[in-house]
Amino acid sequence: MAISDPASQDAGSILEGSRFIRACLRKPVDRTPVWFLRQAGRYMQEYREVRKHHTLIEICKKPELAAEVTITAAERLGVDAAIIFADLLLPLEPMGLDFEFQAGEGPVVHRPVRTPEDVKALRTDRAGDLAYVALAIEKVAGHFKDRLGIIGFCGAPYTLASYMIEGGGSRNYIETKKLMYGSPMAWSSLLDKLVAVLTEYCRLQVQAGADVIQIFDSWVGSLSLADYRDFAFDASRRLVRAVQAMGVPVIYFGVETAGLLAQMAETGADVIGLDWRQPLDVGWRAVGHSHAVQGNLDPITLFAPPEILTQRVHEVLRAAAGRPGHIFNLGHGIVPGTPVENVEAVVKMVHEFRLEEGLGTRE
Ligand code: CP3
Repeated sequence: MAISDPASQDAGSILEGSRFIRACLRKPVDRTPVWFLRQAGRYMQEYREVRKHHTLIEICKKPELAAEVTITAAERLGVDAAIIFADLLLPLEPMGLDFEFQAGEGPVVHRPVRTPEDVKALRTDRAGDLAYVALAIEKVAGHFKDRLGIIGFCGAPYTLASYMIEGGGSRNYIETKKLMYGSPMAWSSLLDKLVAVLTEYCRLQVQAGADVIQIFDSWVGSLSLADYRDFAFDASRRLVRAVQAMGVPVIYFGVETAGLLAQMAETGADVIGLDWRQPLDVGWRAVGHSHAVQGNLDPITLFAPPEILTQRVHEVLRAAAGRPGHIFNLGHGIVPGTPVENVEAVVKMVHEFRLEEGLGTRE
């Protein structure tokens, strides 16, 4: 069950509170809120300028820079929410794992977790070292006040465990599944440790002003439904509940999750992020209408000519059918090389869309 049932509350004015947060709680909105996964990144000239002088980790660790990058992207695009500039892997460092981003290779963990002893050595008492993310959120919240929703985020236990074990991205998740199947005690201890650290990390972000927390289970689609249920679901559920107890809604996102959606919704997350591989209405039905959904344009559609882009954006909006609780987004992150003007155009399309018109004369 989602934390807030709008039917049992005074929905108030349709403009009261941020449009984005209202949609997370399935309250009616004047128009569909929109933001983009990876909205601050290399596709944007302003970000590339900052990256000329600083590494990714430097930007993350300097609140001034992280806030600047977050604010610049949200303002340039005119979106309804700003996601704090950080990276999924930051919590690995206070847990005792060093990593770096190698050009063209993505993240590399120097000494990946492979044995029960490695799990035992991981620390859970230093989440406070991530306070630099909270400082950046404070700056962003101070800048936007209540104008935009501020999104804090973290990785889900399974997805972070997979990075810790594989040492980076993976095609088949062999080492992850070897530990999961072969050392179930170590596996559950690893997920417990992650839940402990991530809960404290999210608490820092909420206290600093995050209105919503998104939990990225980006690689959960590598699991069968049975394995998700037996080896990953419970840790995600505990993290979702712990964050909701801090008083903010939770968005739970994964990729290639068509077969997992109903179970993911059982975590109780307020919003489920949908990838683009099935129509939004089909995904929403699988999730259940007592949850909000976020998505689900294919990010590569942003390279399409205007007619196709418009058609696909309208298809997503029509599939939501005006039901309260839809946040427009991509089905995964914006990729480098995406034309910024197409992203801006999508914001405009979503903001101008009215269901009656979309059904009739607009196309
Ligand atoms: O506006 C935003 O959304 C940016 C903030 C952000 C970053 N990483 C900065 C970043 C967010 C939300 C993330 C989350 C993240 N990081 C995820 C989950 C999101 C998803 O796509 O599912 C994951 C899996 C990571 C781990 C990660 N970080 C990878 C795999 C890579 C390499 C990607 C590549 O194409 O090189 C990164 C690097 C990274 N994190 C970049 C940015 C802007 C690009 C690299 C750079 O600027 O040097």
